[in-house]
Amino acid sequence: MRIAILGFGSVGRGIARVLLAKDLGIAVTGLADSKSGIIDAGGIDLAAALARKEGGGPCGNPGVSPADVVAKAKYDVLVEVTPTNVETGEPALGHIREALRRHKHVVTSNKGPIALDYPGLRALAEANGVLLKYEATVCGAIPLIHAMQEGLAGNTISRLYGVFNGTCNYILTRMAAEGLTYEQALAEARELGYAEADPTYDVEGIDAGIKLVILANTILDLSTTLDDVERTGITLLSPEALQLAEDQDCTIRLIGEIIPDAGVLRVSPRIIPKTHPLVVEGTLNAVTVEADLAGDLTFIGKGAGSTETASAVIGDLLYIRERYVKGS
Ligand SMILES: NC(=O)c1ccc[n+]([C@@H]2O[C@H](COP(=O)([O-])OP(=O)(O)OC[C@H]3O[C@@H](n4cnc5c(N)ncnc54)[C@H](OP(=O)(O)O)[C@@H]3O)[C@@H](O)[C@H]2O)c1
Repeated sequence: MRIAILGFGSVGRGIARVLLAKDLGIAVTGLADSKSGIIDAGGIDLAAALARKEGGGPCGNPGVSPADVVAKAKYDVLVEVTPTNVETGEPALGHIREALRRHKHVVTSNKGPIALDYPGLRALAEANGVLLKYEATVCGAIPLIHAMQEGLAGNTISRLYGVFNGTCNYILTRMAAEGLTYEQALAEARELGYAEADPTYDVEGIDAGIKLVILANTILDLSTTLDDVERTGITLLSPEALQLAEDQDCTIRLIGEIIPDAGVLRVSPRIIPKTHPLVVEGTLNAVTVEADLAGDLTFIGKGAGSTETASAVIGDLLYIRERYVKGS
């Protein structure tokens, strides 16, 4: 199977390292970062591209753009792993549409296009006889989407709730463990690379909200946008609030919740007993799904990370190859 990769940052390089370490029979014939690209139908030398990028250079040739890779490379699947734009989804949305129009399957870790236009992208994929997979967009390594679409296919989901943002979970864990203020815990998260220079997207619950929109629209038959998510972040939480929870053998977690029948999507800090399965530490994610046949299931795992996110992307690629890519 041949793939083209757009984006050669944490996730793109994680995928490349896995392909170099494991013989999965996947060749990379197109690759681009924001300023360069390579097209090679015979297979790109991934080790050399990684070395160039890790040395601070571009991954390829400055004369080759991401659009060139999408339009001209010979590939079966486009792997779209560029930064998320939650307002327009671009330029990823355009690249994904173009690949689908070219009858190419698409695997993405990019939340923007899926949250903004899943119905349109899915219709385009169906019209062109290809698949669109997006496991890595929600909870990194946890195969939540696969579990809900395949394993729980016959179930009715009455509620889904959990910890969808590792950065907030790290901050809350540290505030509770050490009595740190929000600002101190955020500074620590930044130092360790868990929080961005501008943490708004995480700490205001936007990231968790987008993940709820993706689950609601792609699995739970709802039609929602980020504006439909009632959202409260963690920026106003005080060490005193955490201490109060502690006094009752509880703690505080930023919980995202969907109640499909009531049309409820919300993200807010909640007080929960310390023994609850959703009380995970550090940057972990955890999601409980209430299903009529299966009962309650809780999934816990790493919601981010280069190799962990690559795990979800590779799972989608092998799913597509198993079912849809002939002779590879
Ligand atoms: N990191 C995680 O753990 C994780 C987990 C789940 C989902 N995600 C999602 O996965 C995506 C990638 O995340 P990341 O952490 O790998 O981001 P990242 O480290 O910032 O890397 C982004 C890569 O995309 C490239 N890029 C930017 N604009 C581009 C364009 N228009 N065309 C082609 N390439 C472009 C960048 O180029 P330069 O190298 O030239 O800057 C960089 O190589 C994001 O949407 C993120 O939300 C990430």
